Amino acid sequence: MQKLTLNKAVFPVAGLGTRFLPATKAQPKEMLPVVDKPLIQYAVEEAYSAGIRHMIFVTGRNKRAIEDHFDTAYELENELEVAGKQELLAMVRSMQPEDMDFSYVRQPRSLGLGHAVLCAEHLVGNEPFAVLLADDLMVGEAGGATVLAQMAAQFASLQQSILAVQEVPADHTRRYGIVAADAAGADLLKIRAIVEKPAPEVAPSRMGVAGRYILTPAIFGHIRRQSAGVGGELQLTDGIASLLADEAVYALPYRGKRYDCGSKQGFLEATVELALQHPEVGAQFRSYLQSLKLD
Ligand code: UTP
Repeated sequence: MQKLTLNKAVFPVAGLGTRFLPATKAQPKEMLPVVDKPLIQYAVEEAYSAGIRHMIFVTGRNKRAIEDHFDTAYELENELEVAGKQELLAMVRSMQPEDMDFSYVRQPRSLGLGHAVLCAEHLVGNEPFAVLLADDLMVGEAGGATVLAQMAAQFASLQQSILAVQEVPADHTRRYGIVAADAAGADLLKIRAIVEKPAPEVAPSRMGVAGRYILTPAIFGHIRRQSAGVGGELQLTDGIASLLADEAVYALPYRGKRYDCGSKQGFLEATVELALQHPEVGAQFRSYLQSLKLD
């Protein structure tokens, strides 16, 4: 049988971002910058690192900022060229490598993550694809592969759906899709069941799904057959629960760290930690933090 290759990524960016109002009133939360890059750019770079070249955005009412961010900025490039600012010019141009394609599709209303993924079906077609929630900023281990690249490496041999998982505190299960899974090799789990945002008393485990998925196209039919779930939304988790009846779905406890940048606390933690590692501002920022009297 011919091997399936992963070449497409779906970025659902049509949520309302209510936890981050008023910052998200007129722009998607995925455009919030951590140090000097918007969240969506971290996610696109992560997809690229996993070998993906076709980036598909499911956008909502605030679509302009993201489209513009990944479009050629002709006037800016011209100004930088005239001013001889070659480094900045190279940085701006590196955001659209020649082998990268972008597509946009609109989700007319925020009807849930499952619905957002379904909106991309005609662009994905009959191929496996990744889903990246850019408000989950994922950082691989120093010198190691990115989280999606770790998943893509597993997909190359498994050829089945894979979700990124991590252990979450017992009182946080209501924030995640939670899986029940069995060991399936050294670093891998095979999922038996998955539930969206369960209460701690009924959660099947403490393994929570982070915002990275690799899915086979069979998922579309399963989402389409779902009715609204938690929060009255069409949940991707429910689609995956249904997919389990037909196909194996794996979970990868990834190596790295996740920052929940859809929440203020997670966003602030990401900002501080990535600023400390930043080649330009890291050393000075460290001295600044050390100078603070925090008691
Ligand atoms: P969240 O539930 O974190 O996003 O969805 P939200 O609804 O924007 O945030 P809050 O809770 O109101 O603050 C996870 C991801 O799914 C996307 C969001 O943009 C986010 O990346 N999403 C969610 C959609 O694209 N469409 C939807 O209908 C729902």
